[in-house]
Parts: sequence; C-alpha cells; structure tokens
Amino acid sequence: MYKVVVCDNISEKGIDILKNEKDIVVEIKSDLDKKELPKQLGDADAIITRSSTTVDKEFLSYCKNLKVIGRAGVGVDNIDLDEASKKGIVVLNMPTGNTLAATEHTMTHMLNCLRFMPNANYELKYKHIWDRKKWMGIELFGKTVGIIGMGRIGTQVAIRAMSFGAKVIVYDPYIPKEKATRIGAKIVDKLDELIENADIITIHTPKTDETYNMISYDEIKKMKNGVILINCARGGLYNEDALYDGLKSGKIRALGIDVFENEPQPNHPLFEFDNVFVTPHLGANTFESQIRVAEGIARSVIDALKGRGYENAVNIKMEDEEISEIGRQFLGLAERMGSFLSQYTKSFIKCIAIYPHGEIEKNANSLMLFTTVGVLKNIVDEHVNYVNAPYLIEERGIKTQIKPFERSTEFKNLLVIDIEYDDDKHIEIGGAVFEPNKARIVFMDGFDMEIELSGNIIVFKNHDKPGIIGKVGEILGRHNINIADFRLGRRKDLGEALSFIKTDQEVDENILKEIMQIDGAISIAKVKL
Ligand code: NAD
Ligand code: MLT
Repeated sequence: MYKVVVCDNISEKGIDILKNEKDIVVEIKSDLDKKELPKQLGDADAIITRSSTTVDKEFLSYCKNLKVIGRAGVGVDNIDLDEASKKGIVVLNMPTGNTLAATEHTMTHMLNCLRFMPNANYELKYKHIWDRKKWMGIELFGKTVGIIGMGRIGTQVAIRAMSFGAKVIVYDPYIPKEKATRIGAKIVDKLDELIENADIITIHTPKTDETYNMISYDEIKKMKNGVILINCARGGLYNEDALYDGLKSGKIRALGIDVFENEPQPNHPLFEFDNVFVTPHLGANTFESQIRVAEGIARSVIDALKGRGYENAVNIKMEDEEISEIGRQFLGLAERMGSFLSQYTKSFIKCIAIYPHGEIEKNANSLMLFTTVGVLKNIVDEHVNYVNAPYLIEERGIKTQIKPFERSTEFKNLLVIDIEYDDDKHIEIGGAVFEPNKARIVFMDGFDMEIELSGNIIVFKNHDKPGIIGKVGEILGRHNINIADFRLGRRKDLGEALSFIKTDQEVDENILKEIMQIDGAISIAKVKL
C-alpha cells in the first residue's frame, strides 16, 4: 500500500484517479495549517502540492518515507530540489497543463491595464457613476510588447499579443533565435534593449537567482514613460519596492500582478494604487487547467510509485534523451549489468566506463545513470534510485566515463561496461538485446557466452581441462542444488574456461569453498539478480 497525501487544493478528478487505483490510499490535508502539515507526513509515500506548500529542508526532514513529490503545476521553486534529490525523492511536475490558463490570465491583466475595466465596472455597479471620460484607455494595436522569457507561456502570450496587432520583442538568452522569429517576434540580445523600447512588459521566466529582482529601480528608470508592467509568473521577479516607486512617480501607467514575493498576500502597499490590478495567484485557476493538471499529476505519481515511469521528473537527469524501445530494453540491461559487476567484484570500485554501440549511443547518459543505479544497489545502505544515484556516485568518489566504442562487432547494438576496482584491476562485460525482452550478457573478459542476467548465478573460472565441470555438478547435486542453466565460454589463448551456472536455490559460501577445492579451479563468485 502506498499513502499519497494531497497537500493543496487540486481538482476532484485527480483525487478520483488516486482513489480508484489499487494499492493507493489517499489522504486530503489541504486545509491543514502549513506548519502542522509536515509533522503528519512521516509515513507518506508521496505528496501532491501546488504553490501554497513550501517543501524545504525542514519540511522534508519530517518525511521519512517519502519517495515522490507531485507538483500540480509548473513552478518547482517552492521545492528544495537538491535536498529532495539527495534523499532520493523524485519530483514530478505538470508543465503544460496550465499554460493556456496562465496565458489568458496574462492577457486579461494586460487588457485591464490598457482599459481600466475593473475600475469602471466597480464605479458603475457599486457607486452608480456613469463616467465615460474618466476611463479612457489605450489600444494594444500598434504597441510594442516586451516579453522576458519565451518558454511555453511567453510564446502563447506573444502569439496572442500579435493577433491584436502588437509588435513583440523578446529577451530570452536561452532559446534559439528562430523560436522567436518563427512566430514573427524579434529577439533582442540585451535586456536593456527590451526595457527601453517596450510599451508593455510581461515576464514569464522561472524564479531563479538570475531572475530574482530582474526588474528593479535601474531598469524601471530606463523604461518608457507610461510603461505597463505585468507579472503573472513569480513574485519577486519585479522588485516590489521599485514598482511602488515607479507607480508613485507616474512612470508606470499601470501594473497587473498575479503573484507576490510573499504569499498569501491579503494586504500590500501596492494595493493603494487605482492603476494596480491584482489577483491572488489565479493564473492557473481555470476548471480546464485544474482538471488537466490534477489528472496528469495523479497518473504520474501512481506511475512513479509503482516504478512504471517518471514522466516530467524534474530531478532525473535524462530529460533531453529520446529513448526508443530498444533503448529502454538496454536501460534495464545496464542496471542488471551494473548490479552483476558490483556483486562480482565485491570491492572498492574506482571507475565505471561504458562503451555504447549502435543507436543506443544517443542514450549514453541514461545508460550510465542506470548502470550506476545497478552498481550502487548492492553497496550503499540507503535506497538508491535514478534521482540520488549521481549524488551517491560523486560522494563515493567513483569516476564515470562514457567512451566511444571503437572495436568491430557483429552486434547492431551493444553495451560494454568496464569496471576498474581495487588496485587497477578491470572487469569487462558486454550485453546485447536480441529481441524484445531477450537481454543477455554476451561476453565477459574475452570469454564469449550468452546468458540472461536473472536469478542465482555462480560465475566459475577454471583451467580448461577435462572433468572439472562434472565435479562442480556433483558437489551441487550432493547439496540438493538444482542447476537451472549452464553456459560456458573458453579462451584457448589462456587455456581457461568461464562458466555461468544458474541455480534454483541460493548457494551458500561453504559450497563455493568446496568447489574451489577442485583441482584446476581459479575463481568463484555468486551473484543474485
Ligand atoms: P518555461 O520553462 O516554459 O519558460 C521559461 C522561459 O524563461 C524559458 O524559455 C527560459 O529560457 C526563460 N528564462 C530563464 N531564465 C531567463 C533569464 N534569466 N532571462 C530571460 N529568460 C529566461 O515556463 P512556463 O511554463 O512558460 O512558465 C513561466 C513562469 O510562469 C514560471 O515562473 C511559472 O512558475 C509561472 N507560472 C505561473 C502560473 C500562475 O498561476 N501565475 C501558472 C503557470 C506558470
Ligand atoms: C504553477 O507554477 O503552475 C502555478 O503557480 C500554479 C499553481 O501553483 O497552481
């Protein structure tokens, strides 16, 4: 059974998906005081949050059993990703579910800043004032809209602004120029160029060290008089004191703001201005987007808990690789090869080198990640997974190398792993996938053979002379150990043979010692996969 705790309000549709899943129990704690909340999460396997829950180091210290954090939204700035990763907690988000809601919310703020609609509405309905002169607006048509950050939301805002006849300029140093030019926007190299030329500025970056207070006193000073500013991304991207000054001086014509540096924010100095339009972090609040986000995150959390997949994991380093079906089969094989090698060597591992060959070369980083998970599984105390493996590898001083495969081979795709251990000893194995679900080791240290890495395996090396394998079979039989499979590789150059003996039962150390008494035995090891 997995316990999933929902910490913030999400759509019932997502909760239903969790409730209908076998092996999942759901607890709703969205109304709980945020200070009390972490204290009640000691046995939670997964939590689902929105931006109202701050998941920092202290919060995580209470979550002894946590494996998955599902962020029902895009921004993960409320989660200490480093701390979560160190603890092996997978963090998943739903990056696309609320893009359109946030885009339309931005456009609403922009239009309000142009036409003062909420003020006119308020005066007419509640003060019964019919004043057509007071609420003169300006048009979006013909204006220059400056967009800082052209990701998912920035792009959609650009398209909508252009459909109103506005010119769009973009500052985003992290995107290719064509992303902006393709839709008819102009990209600028310097933030100042945008700041000095835009009539309306809207920001759509994440909150990072670089973007925090990106717009402050100096930047506002350089803006056009009567500039309109919008922030529907994250509080703190615009310095709130500088905004106050800009409004007070009349430099800023209007401000539309959905997010605040400290939230919730029921009272703020900026509220004193009639030309400031505020909403309480409602960017993502449409029924459509909340259903999309809640359903999506519920499914991803279930998949991650059950090890079926890690869609939209923000702290697993595999995000840029497209993984084909064959690539997936190799990932599983890489993990088993890693586990095999660390059990076989039973030593301090200095370096893991992988040599991928064929179409799997493009999945080299993921293959390395899965290999390291396999290697670590048997040698560290804590729970190892795809999130904390890179940290644990670094912590233990194990080097990792991805190297080009430069030998000839008959295999279309082949993964070779070389482990350096103890004092410059090496062991090398090659693995291949023949057809779906037929992943095999195909050689070890120059001995060719073909064996599936599963179950109990004895790896036995001996001088290649008659009678030895018969004696091994006799010893195992005498101890009631049934042989399930047997594969042999020979190296004529060394006069040695290497056998992989699969057994139905686990073989104890005394039996291995007995086998090593056979004249001609060189080495023996057992692994369990
Ligand atoms: P995204 O990741 O798709 O896009 C972010 C863009 O910002 C990227 O293109 C990136 O290159 C750019 N960027 C990063 N650092 C930059 C810098 N220093 N200067 C210029 N550009 C920079 O994200 P998104 O889904 O478009 O979301 C954008 C923002 O909106 C995020 O902060 C997100 O948390 C927020 N958001 C708010 C709400 C809400 O309810 N108000 C809803 C959804 C998203
Ligand atoms: C997000 O990052 O997705 C938004 O802030 C919306 C939310 O938390 O609901």
